[in-house]
Amino acid sequence: MTLIDGKALFSNIKNGLSLQVASMVSDGRRPPHLAAILVGDNPASKTYVNAKVKACKEIGFNSTVIEYPENVSQSELLSKIEEINHSNNIDGLIVQLPLPNHIDENVVTHSIHHYKDVDGFHPINIGRMVLGLPCYIPATPLGIISLLKEYKIDTSGKKCLVIGRSHIVGTPISILMSRNNSIGNATVTLAHSKTKNLSALTLGADIIIVAMGVPSFLKSDMVKEGVVIIDVGIHRVKSDHTKSGFKLVGDVDYDDVKHKASYITPVPGGVGPMTIASLLTNTLQSAKKMIYSHT
Ligand code: GUN
Repeated sequence: MTLIDGKALFSNIKNGLSLQVASMVSDGRRPPHLAAILVGDNPASKTYVNAKVKACKEIGFNSTVIEYPENVSQSELLSKIEEINHSNNIDGLIVQLPLPNHIDENVVTHSIHHYKDVDGFHPINIGRMVLGLPCYIPATPLGIISLLKEYKIDTSGKKCLVIGRSHIVGTPISILMSRNNSIGNATVTLAHSKTKNLSALTLGADIIIVAMGVPSFLKSDMVKEGVVIIDVGIHRVKSDHTKSGFKLVGDVDYDDVKHKASYITPVPGGVGPMTIASLLTNTLQSAKKMIYSHT
């Protein structure tokens, strides 16, 4: 079994990005600037935004976090987004999800200009991704592709099962894995909450990407020998074996499944850091106007 080390690749990517920032600055340009909107007190969202800001600092990006209380109105968010859309010194804008129920996530995320949409959630970016045109690819799927590339995992002609059809992970990764690309050309099945006999699908799969949101769901008796496992889940569960009384687990029962896998991502330290790596990469591309040549 080979452990797919997302933390190590994250560190390499950060080193590469730092060098690019240093070269921009020495050319007299300002560093890339990522802005994040955070609504309410969701502890997981706070942790994710803090991790994004920390990574920005480490590589010399500017970052701004705009925090709002849980009861902020949708129109207030939209006017802040409009302001940032027109700001000359912010390259990328994300709104951390989930948002409170009174706010329409689609309306909010789609109001971000597609050329600052470094999360890749805007219909223009999603549409361009489907067509194979240059675009911002959502951060978690892009991170998964980078991991598969780094470990030279052969995906061509393989049976790839994606479990979970969210707009953020399952749907885009299922499209990317089926494309005619070096990482791609897989025969993809997209399973979801209405799928029947999931075990038959997991047992037949060469590559399983699990983004279903159920702690330690995938067990060894559900997979075949030599399977490649990408675990997108992250959950804080009670534990008698840690000082804090909690531990982080994914959607895969790692200790159970690892003996049968040829490659597997751990949680933490697998896909999670790569999501941030991809967000930073997208933000640098925006600052350098590599995808869209807006003014
Ligand atoms: N919430 C969970 N994942 C993500 C993500 O990739 N981007 C944003 N903005 N919110 C999230």
